[in-house]
Amino acid sequence: MMRLLGALTLVLSIAEGKISVERRRQIVRESSVRRNASSDTTPLQVGNGNFAFGADITGLQTFKPYATLSTWGWHNFSLPTTPGQTSPEDYTGLDWWTHDRLVNYEQPNPDQPEISNWLRENPHRINLGRIGFDFGPDTQVTEDDLQNKTQELDMWAGILTSSFRYNGTSIQVSTSADPHSDSIGVTINSTLLQTGLGIFFDFPYPTKDKFNAPFVGVYNRTSLHKTTLQQFSPRSAQITHTLDDTTYYATVSWEGLDALITRPSPSSHRYILAPSSPSSSSTLNLSVTFSPNPLTSLPPSTDLIISSSTTFWSTLFSTSAFIDLRSVPSPSARTLQFRLVTSLYLTTVNSASNLPPQESGLVNNGWHGKFHLEMVLWHLLPFARWNLFPLFSRSLPSTYSFLLNSSISRAEHQGYSGARWGKMTDPTGRSAPGEINALLIWQQPVPFYLAETEYRSSSAGDKTAVLLKWDRILHESAEFMASYAYLNSSTGYYDLGPPLHSVSENTPPNSTSNPIFELAFWKFGLTTAINWKLRLNSTAGAPESWIRVRDNLHPLPVQNGTYVTYPSIPDMWVAPETTFDHPGMAGIFGLLPPTPDVDVDVARATADKIRSTWRLEESYGWDFAMLAMNELRLGRADGAMSYLLHEKYEFDDAGYPVGGERVPTPYFPNAAGFLVAMGMMAGGWEGDEGPKGKWPKDWEGLVEVEGFVPAL
Ligand SMILES: *[C@@H]1O[C@H](CO)[C@@H](O)[C@H](O)[C@H]1NC(C)=O
Ligand SMILES: *[C@@H]1O[C@H](CO)[C@@H](O)[C@H](O)[C@H]1NC(C)=O
Ligand SMILES: *[C@@H]1O[C@H](CO)[C@@H](O)[C@H](O)[C@H]1NC(C)=O
Ligand SMILES: *[C@@H]1O[C@H](CO)[C@@H](O)[C@H](O)[C@H]1NC(C)=O
Ligand SMILES: *[C@@H]1O[C@H](CO)[C@@H](O)[C@H](O)[C@H]1NC(C)=O
Ligand SMILES: *[C@@H]1O[C@H](CO)[C@@H](O)[C@H](O)[C@H]1NC(C)=O
Ligand SMILES: *[C@@H]1O[C@H](CO)[C@@H](O)[C@H](O)[C@H]1NC(C)=O
Ligand SMILES: *[C@@H]1O[C@H](CO)[C@@H](O)[C@H](O)[C@H]1NC(C)=O
Ligand SMILES: *[C@@H]1O[C@H](CO)[C@@H](O)[C@H](O)[C@H]1NC(C)=O
Ligand SMILES: *[C@@H]1O[C@H](CO)[C@@H](O)[C@H](O)[C@H]1NC(C)=O
Ligand SMILES: *[C@@H]1O[C@H](CO)[C@@H](O)[C@H](O)[C@H]1NC(C)=O
Ligand SMILES: *[C@@H]1O[C@H](CO)[C@@H](O)[C@H](O)[C@H]1NC(C)=O
Repeated sequence: MMRLLGALTLVLSIAEGKISVERRRQIVRESSVRRNASSDTTPLQVGNGNFAFGADITGLQTFKPYATLSTWGWHNFSLPTTPGQTSPEDYTGLDWWTHDRLVNYEQPNPDQPEISNWLRENPHRINLGRIGFDFGPDTQVTEDDLQNKTQELDMWAGILTSSFRYNGTSIQVSTSADPHSDSIGVTINSTLLQTGLGIFFDFPYPTKDKFNAPFVGVYNRTSLHKTTLQQFSPRSAQITHTLDDTTYYATVSWEGLDALITRPSPSSHRYILAPSSPSSSSTLNLSVTFSPNPLTSLPPSTDLIISSSTTFWSTLFSTSAFIDLRSVPSPSARTLQFRLVTSLYLTTVNSASNLPPQESGLVNNGWHGKFHLEMVLWHLLPFARWNLFPLFSRSLPSTYSFLLNSSISRAEHQGYSGARWGKMTDPTGRSAPGEINALLIWQQPVPFYLAETEYRSSSAGDKTAVLLKWDRILHESAEFMASYAYLNSSTGYYDLGPPLHSVSENTPPNSTSNPIFELAFWKFGLTTAINWKLRLNSTAGAPESWIRVRDNLHPLPVQNGTYVTYPSIPDMWVAPETTFDHPGMAGIFGLLPPTPDVDVDVARATADKIRSTWRLEESYGWDFAMLAMNELRLGRADGAMSYLLHEKYEFDDAGYPVGGERVPTPYFPNAAGFLVAMGMMAGGWEGDEGPKGKWPKDWEGLVEVEGFVPAL
């Protein structure tokens, strides 16, 4: 599997801009997260986008087994043994009628329940291990037994500092992650190290839960997996963990004292690092690297990890776009400033990965840790808007190149041309069986949005390279889009579906066609595809089918002067089952660059109707971001702000985006959406004639912004 070092390429020397580095540092430091107890729902994390370590109040995972997750750590349970269902090749999916022919979809097959479930649950991401304080044999210390607990996450350096007392003696801990390897560095200062304070390592086994939240894996199925220890020296050791076909390594090294790692019970996977002889040292510096292959050298020292982490995070916050809200007297400005800093930190730690991230990032294992290709848009757009293209490019366009063959096969198998992108995906390139997974289509034009974003912001000298690297991906995407659209001979329009699931996932798939968001996205995608060929000076130009479908798509559905979810939807604004979930009608003007056929008066009437009827209490946070962007394009900054500050658009004390009624916490698209919407508020959008900043009246002139890439 792809394994690239996750370094943020530091090409820019840090030039003093409008908002000085010193001012940025102060603002980031003012946003430091402070806790005095572990949270029951979220850790505090250090990480690098491909690896993250979730800590409790001790700076480790002593009392709360928060996860250590990565981009590369995955596992399969054994295959079912029921005859006819023993391998992925046995799985047949389901045939559904699609415009007078049967099309095979990757849906759970009721005649093949075991292999259908297996394919959904495997491979899943694994928790690489737990690291905590060991207070000595036969001591049952709980969090309540510690006094004077304080903790602070300094995002400017990526360092979590924790301090507490046990039995009257102070313990001080600093925890940080290496930006260049999947390592943590921990410094522990305490005289208790002289009398037996140690560190434990433990290794869980995965479960089949769809949402492994808030913790990932269990520690009591020890007979199902194996660990072995090799101590290299009085200062280093390697623990090898084997779970069925997956093997990986935790390499530990330490400074400050000689110590021994032992395994107190062979029936447990818990190891303890404790001073090997009475020690006079009160410092233990510990580094742990997790890796899919044995290391050829020891982990980086704690000192090196601390300095690399400090360089990485201070450079990120010094060179990214920035918003300074300190001169705005409103208390909401404090809230937003905190959310801006924490969202940028958390989005980088959890989503700046080499494969697209899961919505729960590297905190827990939502959807078995698989990633969703429609959500790639939300996850990655912040890095573009906030001018952090090296992070944007970690998974782009490589993810699409990697999935191209399996997506071409999917389209071919279904009788279409081009590449049909899957939905709930993993490093095997498969799309997990599921009705929504198989019938959702809005992931299909996402690469156009991403490619166009990169093209518009690349320098003149880089444009040809950008055009070339996305060309095949966009070509195959457009081929599918043109062949999927169905010419309705009675209307002369090209229809999308049925069957399909729209962005709102709550309409009957066999009778839903021409959903508004998908129509607009198809039009944007095909237009971009056609332009791409022009920009490439392609002599063949864009295939005629792309132009024909683009120009004859079913019109955007309007009823009584408002946009609706799809043309034949009954009682759209009065039926409770159609006034909730993602409001795609707002997406065509908010999230998507509006195509010329969007009528602003209708868009305005629709926005008003959404505000008065929508069941926002059931919305996901990115809906609020999308609604806010819709308000911005309508010229209503106050309306935008009211969505961004909506009570259901929640973030916890550490800035983690709350999942809400329907998904576990954290749900990172909400934080990403917040950054994208605030980026649009601060940086405007292309083609907009008005002032770039769109702030509420009494904020105007008080906000300082720098470095935003305008929205499309
Ligand atoms: C712990 O933090 C909470 C919230 O910040 C605060 O209200 C409380 O006083 C703190 N408790 C202690 C013992 O510091
Ligand atoms: C899981 O099984 C699939 C075969 O169906 C294989 O392609 C993949 O590499 C396996 N992944 C792991 C982590 O074992
Ligand atoms: C949609 O139609 C297919 C037959 O083409 C049928 O098997 C399936 O149950 C229908 N789905 C729903 C949700 O009605
Ligand atoms: C530590 O906590 C104890 C009570 O738990 C309190 O009396 C003491 O003042 C605290 N010390 C510091 C330095 O905060
Ligand atoms: C607490 O510290 C005292 C001495 O300061 C020691 O006698 C006692 O054993 C310690 N208790 C525990 C539980 O470590
Ligand atoms: C531990 O002590 C060392 C040496 O005095 C110091 O540099 C470091 O900052 C301390 N770490 C913590 C977490 O207190
Ligand atoms: C194993 O651990 C899990 C989670 O910690 C717990 O829910 C479950 O009840 C435990 N099972 C047994 C058999 O103890
Ligand atoms: C441990 O790390 C701290 C903080 O980086 C450093 O000041 C100290 O010199 C290190 N101690 C040892 C023994 O390596
Ligand atoms: C995709 O298919 C082509 C042609 O069949 C093959 O040459 C290429 O290696 C495949 N790429 C991947 C990533 O599997
Ligand atoms: C053609 O469009 C009409 C009007 O939208 C619709 O009622 C009809 O079902 C469509 N025909 C087909 C074959 O999908
Ligand atoms: C396309 O042609 C124009 C005009 O000749 C030229 O400036 C541009 O570089 C060409 N683009 C590519 C990708 O070759
Ligand atoms: C349009 O207006 C008619 C008549 O007032 C009403 O019956 C219908 O429900 C309305 N449709 C929508 C989508 O609001």
